[in-house]
Amino acid sequence: MNLLIKLWRSSIGKKWLVALTGLALLGFVVAHLLGNLQMFSGAEKINAYAEFLKANEKPLWLARIGLLICFVTHILATLSLVRMNRAARPDAYALKRSVQAKISTRTMALSGLTVLSFVAFHLAHYTLRITDARFKVEAEGGLLTSAHDVYHMVIMGFQNPLISSFYILSVGLLSLHLSHGISSVFQTLGLETKKSAIWMPKAATLIALLLFTGYASIPAAVLSGLLK
Ligand code: HEM
Repeated sequence: MNLLIKLWRSSIGKKWLVALTGLALLGFVVAHLLGNLQMFSGAEKINAYAEFLKANEKPLWLARIGLLICFVTHILATLSLVRMNRAARPDAYALKRSVQAKISTRTMALSGLTVLSFVAFHLAHYTLRITDARFKVEAEGGLLTSAHDVYHMVIMGFQNPLISSFYILSVGLLSLHLSHGISSVFQTLGLETKKSAIWMPKAATLIALLLFTGYASIPAAVLSGLLK
């Protein structure tokens, strides 16, 4: 706890908090994608996976709480850093420094806000299932064969082009956010070398592109009729 307070009080410490929580969130994004890609293996596979996750309640709730702490810390530490930077920046430098720094900062803020609103909608959509009356079991008037029938829920969800487009746009902005974030992590943690400064941004772009392709492939496959 003491260490956390010390980290929070210094700007380097806050940068570390942003970097470490960002890495943990990246881990979730990769794992969640691998789980979701089971949509391409058929209903039985992904529904069994959903049932397995729900059957392990304790670890599931621990992971959810950890994820929430990382998410909130990542946002609060970033906001606090932005405020500290603004307060420390002398007016005379404001124009000079704004051109390069602001483009990435603005993109990070926009993509970060989109991810935040996306996650809020996504939780209401597929976790709480309150946006669509069909996402209930048949006995309750819905169209799902069981509470773990994630396959048909995702298919029905993405058959709506507006919702699919929102998901594709959001994972696009998430990938943009990650490509900048991943290359910054190395710098923040002091791991950057002359060589890694050259390949790291390229590797970060590649990882972000792979994540985008993986996530966007699911709504795209439903819209094109490949998954039904
Ligand atoms: C095509 C894209 C995606 C699909 C098909 C998808 C699918 C799902 C489904 C079906 C659930 C509910 C699982 C259940 O309750 O059984 C879920 C939960 C969740 N998803 Fe996604 N997801 C996608 C993208 C994302 C992205 C990009 C993020 C993060 C930025 C994300 C974050 C979450 C979170 C935080 C949960 C709640 C997990 C929990 O509390 O159990 N998802 N997703």
